[in-house]
Amino acid sequence: MESYMENVVVIDHPLVQHKLTLLRNRNTGTKDFRMLLKELSTLMAYEVTRDLPMEEIEIKTPVAPMRSRVLAGRKLGIVPILRAGLGMAEGIMELIPAAKIGHIGLYRDPQTLKPVSYYCKLPTDTNKRDMIVVDPMLATGGSAAEGIRVVKEAGCKTIRLMCLVAAPEGLKLLHEEHPDVRIFTAAVDSHLNEHGYIVPGLGDAGDRIFGTK
Ligand code: PRP
Ligand code: URA
Repeated sequence: MESYMENVVVIDHPLVQHKLTLLRNRNTGTKDFRMLLKELSTLMAYEVTRDLPMEEIEIKTPVAPMRSRVLAGRKLGIVPILRAGLGMAEGIMELIPAAKIGHIGLYRDPQTLKPVSYYCKLPTDTNKRDMIVVDPMLATGGSAAEGIRVVKEAGCKTIRLMCLVAAPEGLKLLHEEHPDVRIFTAAVDSHLNEHGYIVPGLGDAGDRIFGTK
């Protein structure tokens, strides 16, 4: 195994892989793309939250008292990287409706492929939360690395990254810059093309979600 895969979890559940294939298909239109992305995010959220700490509390069922498990103390936040991350955040919120939501606005300069920042609003208690940064595409990794840097700067100690399709180039960059961050993805694709697009990928996620091309 390549060392940059150490912190990477590839979610190969059949439902995830089936829906990802539908999503990748160029014939899938905006409405279905949005729906599939949301469903995929809800399914992937199960894996992303699998190791959340738990504690036992005392309850009474209609039949008997018992000790039963609930999520322990720490609260969660979700940070979509705009625009495409919005489509994923919705799916996670289905499972974790009480999570606070931060937004980080970044677009990738088409010439330099470097992220350009245009918006940032994080929960004021980001330093007390575990954060899930979400963006469907991890290409060069520049956008995710910058988003994670900003969340760390706000004091957050535990960050997970949830994406859908990752390129080896992006995984390598994150391994170098944020080795403490666990990455959850549904696929690791072949490489980036000369325009920085993931091959085979699924095209421009933002444009496909919002119908802007
Ligand atoms: C896309 C995607 C990621 C970024 C990935 O956003 O949603 O944020 O590119 O590329 P990288 O890993 O090389 O940084 P884009 O810049 O197209 O903005 P958009 O979501 O507003 O369309
Ligand atoms: N951003 C996308 O939306 N798709 C890619 O393949 C690369 C960056």
